[in-house]
Amino acid sequence: MKVTVKQGGIQFEEAPLVVVNLFEGVTEPGGATGAVDRALGGAIREIITAGDFKGKGGETALLYTRGNFPAKRVLVVGLGKAEKFDLEAVRKASATAARKAHDLGLARLATIVHGGGIGSMAVVDAAQAVVEGTILGLYRYRELKSDDENGGKPLEELTLVEFDEKKLADVREGVRVGQIVAEAACLARDLSNRPGNLATPTHLAETAQRLAQELGLRCQVLERAEFEALDMGALAGVARGTEEPPKFIILEYNADKPDLPAIVLAGKGITFDSGGISLKPSEKMDEMKHDMSGAAAVLGTMQAVARLALPLHVVALIPATENLPSGRAIKPGDVLKALSGKTIEIISTDAEGRLVLADALAYAKRFNPAAVIDVATLTGACVVALGHVATGLMGTSEKLNNRIKTAAQATGERVWELPLWDEYDELIKSEVADVKNSGGRYGGAITGAMFLKKFASDYPWAHLDIAGTADTDKAGSYTAKGATGVGVRLLTQLLRTWPQETASRG
Ligand code: BES
Ligand code: MN
Ligand code: ZN
Repeated sequence: MKVTVKQGGIQFEEAPLVVVNLFEGVTEPGGATGAVDRALGGAIREIITAGDFKGKGGETALLYTRGNFPAKRVLVVGLGKAEKFDLEAVRKASATAARKAHDLGLARLATIVHGGGIGSMAVVDAAQAVVEGTILGLYRYRELKSDDENGGKPLEELTLVEFDEKKLADVREGVRVGQIVAEAACLARDLSNRPGNLATPTHLAETAQRLAQELGLRCQVLERAEFEALDMGALAGVARGTEEPPKFIILEYNADKPDLPAIVLAGKGITFDSGGISLKPSEKMDEMKHDMSGAAAVLGTMQAVARLALPLHVVALIPATENLPSGRAIKPGDVLKALSGKTIEIISTDAEGRLVLADALAYAKRFNPAAVIDVATLTGACVVALGHVATGLMGTSEKLNNRIKTAAQATGERVWELPLWDEYDELIKSEVADVKNSGGRYGGAITGAMFLKKFASDYPWAHLDIAGTADTDKAGSYTAKGATGVGVRLLTQLLRTWPQETASRG
């Protein structure tokens, strides 16, 4: 999508649709909405007093300007209650407006920066949120449909109109960041939505190589024989059952700048999780194509980080394989030896994510990282605990956890911390090996993380369980059914604020 910024009054903007807003309960619109109302002879006040428009979040009213100013249509979007107004409300209102414009078949819309006139909200953040809401709200996974049924004509251009000249630079900066971040989230959505026969480990590796080419990153892809030779026995174990070539992907941004702090992002890349010999029930098994959403989030984040030119050394590690049953597949009772040297008793071949990540976390040590964050659709138990509302956060560093919580707050990609108390260790003790890969049903999200903790070295480490947030069967205000791209905005925000935080906190 083309995004442009213009200085001026929106009532003078010549566009097929201009978008203004209203808080709930406001009867005398001010600012740009007031200016449009006056130009329309009180049309907005009229729909308010008639009781037809209340300004609730998600509410819209379409008005025709009838020659009173250059734009043909005006869309008023509700922002909800002023007390509850935040960046998430801006994203939602922007997505609502964009979807409306798309449904009308319009090629362009011009909008004011929702929240841009409110003192408590930074204009740069508001503009970023407008662009994010617009791009994410319009996202659909269409590449495999031959007749573009719900496609229609795309909305091609978004214009942000700002009256105040002093705010223009901030609006432009917000637009730049918002576009980069939203496009990165769309990359993650595409990868995750793409079916398992197309989004194979090879496809993930090719995507990493393409990003490396386009953005000047360093990329290395280890084949089965290569990671086996490195003694990555946990990843090799999971990959035994599949004929689709597995990969261990290493993608690095600023690899040649050793002075920058290194942050490692490890993404679970199970391109299809059948459960293996511990086979899953067939109902909804198709959704397990999304089991590489952690890898997708990490790849999307790498694209954003490179395009934003952040002053960090960022390393993506992606263990990628299918998890399938076969005559060669690992079995319950088998014992694997991981890269760290620890032995693992397999209780369930369906607890495969922690196995492949165990080797990635051990591999991460070689970068001497300032932090390691893994992202994984790890446990059904996390979905039981937090539903589809929040990502599970578990980690060894309070400072890192707090940074992640702050980034979650800013992006609306919510996280909730679960404890990693020593008592949970009892549940993954093995009779025959150093650890077992399943602690049973109770506290399942935590025992999954406790397992990973044994393979994380002494670097600050955090684990994001996105099993409940990576995909959805109900469309949200700016998410379509299917992959959400969760993690990209959160991680990018974390990394974008990393240098400042380090400086200010000493
Ligand atoms: N990929 C699944 C977790 C999952 C479940 C993601 C539902 C999204 C929705 C993971 O590999 C898995 O199967 N985990 C097991 C672990 C158990 C065997 C200890 C689970 O959650 O049942
Ligand atoms: Mn599984
Ligand atoms: Zn899985």
